[in-house]
Amino acid sequence: MARIAILGASGKLGERLVNRALELGYSVNALARDPRRIKRQNENLTVISGDAETGEGLDAVVDRCHFVISAVGSLRPMMTPAMNQLVPKLETLKRFERFVLISRLGTGESLLQSAKVSGPVQSRLPVLLTPIFRDINGAEQRVRQSALPYTILRSTRLTDDPATGKVLTVGPAEPPPHRITRADLANYVLALLESRDGLRAEVTVGSA
Ligand SMILES: NC(=O)c1ccc[n+]([C@@H]2O[C@H](COP(=O)([O-])OP(=O)(O)OC[C@H]3O[C@@H](n4cnc5c(N)ncnc54)[C@H](OP(=O)(O)O)[C@@H]3O)[C@@H](O)[C@H]2O)c1
Repeated sequence: MARIAILGASGKLGERLVNRALELGYSVNALARDPRRIKRQNENLTVISGDAETGEGLDAVVDRCHFVISAVGSLRPMMTPAMNQLVPKLETLKRFERFVLISRLGTGESLLQSAKVSGPVQSRLPVLLTPIFRDINGAEQRVRQSALPYTILRSTRLTDDPATGKVLTVGPAEPPPHRITRADLANYVLALLESRDGLRAEVTVGSA
């Protein structure tokens, strides 16, 4: 079975990505700054200690992987340095099929779309969190400039509700979809990996 590397595996979305990938029978390499935060144990799961921002552990985590998913995020700018570390490593991989970057609504061409989100705070996030959004834009740019088979998923607000199966992807000119559960997003990302859809594409993802 194919091998997937998941960055940000100790996070809330990351945990669901790991669980779904194992459920589907993949071998999973999970990067975490503190491996003790990954409670799941499975013969197909390898937890690797490292830091996406400095590049520590990245060689080991992407080794022999067919797919890589980044679900890293922080209230501190770190995604541009993380992509500067990661992208050149992915470009050297053989049999590599897809990189999925989990990004946020409000970056790139979705900036104007985010202003149409309901709620005074959510609609102004790119302005209220300017350094964070500048950092994520930089990360997207690094991926876009690469030769990689990538998909950038700009997610609406994430929730911890159960999966609904109602995932909606739209282009930047369409109205923004509603917030999405992490369970739905994880299921969507795993289904996307083996499809031919969305290669070298950037879409907004949320719920119907
Ligand atoms: N929350 C939302 O409403 C929302 C909306 C749209 C998009 N997103 C995006 O969706 C993704 C997941 O969101 P979430 O809310 O599930 O996030 P989360 O629970 O905060 O998880 C973030 C993950 O990133 C990891 N991380 C941060 N800095 C790192 C570094 N230097 N090296 C390695 N790992 C690092 C964290 O590791 P530690 O455990 O070590 O801290 C954690 O595993 C993020 O990319 C976020 O920007 C979130």
